[in-house]
Amino acid sequence: MTKSAWSRWIGLAILLGSGPAFAGDTAKGEKLFRNCLACHRLQGDDGATIRKGGRAGPNLFEVIGRLAGSAPNYEYSDGLQALHKSGQVWSKESLTAFVVNPNEFLSVQLGPGHTSKMPFALPNGAADIAEYLANVATTRK
Ligand code: HEC
Repeated sequence: MTKSAWSRWIGLAILLGSGPAFAGDTAKGEKLFRNCLACHRLQGDDGATIRKGGRAGPNLFEVIGRLAGSAPNYEYSDGLQALHKSGQVWSKESLTAFVVNPNEFLSVQLGPGHTSKMPFALPNGAADIAEYLANVATTRK
């Protein structure tokens, strides 16, 4: 591994291990989630629309705590299918790391060469979106 790959790996390990220090802002995340609506919607199990959005990506309602690559009726890439098989469950921390850089997240988790078909990355504010996604799910139960 090159030096820069190591430092990125360590950065991600710190991010994933940060646990209680996780600090996202739900209100900011709700606004920032607009960036995701071109491809993602929030739709309850009963079919109710919580947030209207596109269908190029999977439904993100209750994604925190959900096994990666497991939204029904969605055809995931090989990379996300491999992540699913590895048993990865989305946490606020891992979702944040994925959104900051989907391909890098997969190569750190699964090894080089694994990629996602999500054609989008958000360098700033992903933690706020993760917080919003965690809360929008529990407040609707
Ligand atoms: C241009 C379309 C597009 C945009 C914009 C987009 N995504 Fe995605 N997203 C996708 C696609 C396509 C996938 C499926 C990836 C795969 O199968 O590799 C995906 C997958 C995901 C997953 C994995 C879900 C699962 O079921 O495992 C998460 C989490 C996610 N996106 C979060 C976000 C967030 C948060 C935003 C906004 C910051 C966002 N995405 C913006 C297209 C998009």
